[in-house]
Amino acid sequence: MEYKKLYNGINIPKVGFGTWQIGEGGDVIKVIENAFKSGYRFFDMAYSYGNEFFIGKALKNSNIDRASLFLQNKLWNDKLSKDDVVSACKRSLKMLKLDCFDSYLIHWPYRGENEDEVNYQRWLGMEAVYDEGLVKSIGVCNYSISDFENLKKYNVKYLPMINQIEFHPGINQKELIDYCENNNIVLQAWSPLGHGEILKNVKLETIAKKYNRTVAQICLKYNLEKGFIILPKSCNEKRMKENLNIFDYNLSVEDISLIDNL
Ligand code: A2P
Repeated sequence: MEYKKLYNGINIPKVGFGTWQIGEGGDVIKVIENAFKSGYRFFDMAYSYGNEFFIGKALKNSNIDRASLFLQNKLWNDKLSKDDVVSACKRSLKMLKLDCFDSYLIHWPYRGENEDEVNYQRWLGMEAVYDEGLVKSIGVCNYSISDFENLKKYNVKYLPMINQIEFHPGINQKELIDYCENNNIVLQAWSPLGHGEILKNVKLETIAKKYNRTVAQICLKYNLEKGFIILPKSCNEKRMKENLNIFDYNLSVEDISLIDNL
């Protein structure tokens, strides 16, 4: 596995396992067990996925050394004040039976009345859980350039270390990608396979044949080449392995540019 380093020195694996919509109850435990077997050690979770309890059980059953895992969770939208953030983080840790998260992210920026101030107050909560040692890194999801500029305006103690956004072939996020890179914010891609819909694209099929890979592998590799950490999810063991098996080749500059223009 390859890693990316956050500006505070923490290493994150470049591939994580997405846990949204991976089934209900006991099915979740089975999927996570298969993900362990396939080699995943980074799990991207969220309060809103409603499966923390079952993922916690799978983690406990696995007996995998905690230090070899990278566990990321997300704060849901209704937690807006500093105190709300701290108690939500503690609640998620308890549900998963953990002492700390490797990263904790705001799931969506707040939109509504007094938005700048509310997003600032929430971020103070994120800084508090980081300073308390409940999490090893803090970041956001779905933030735009103006959301980051807002935090800068308030002179926050730490800027977000991560921004998780939707990214896959067919989405153009160049301005935001450049901004994050210039501000030491590591990018993560949610839905790196475009919800499975882009896998039938004829141009991608042609490129995949050329490299003797599947279209999914080409999409994931493209995301990596664009500097993203990827979070593919699959409930199928064969596809779980396929999605990890992407580190032994590179896409040519010409093919990356072809995919850029899809
Ligand atoms: P499945 O669980 O049956 O494998 P995204 O992460 O972009 O939202 O896409 C997730 C969808 O892509 C899921 O429906 C998943 O279905 C499917 N998927 C994941 N990996 C692969 C793969 N290697 N090949 C084809 N489909 C995949």
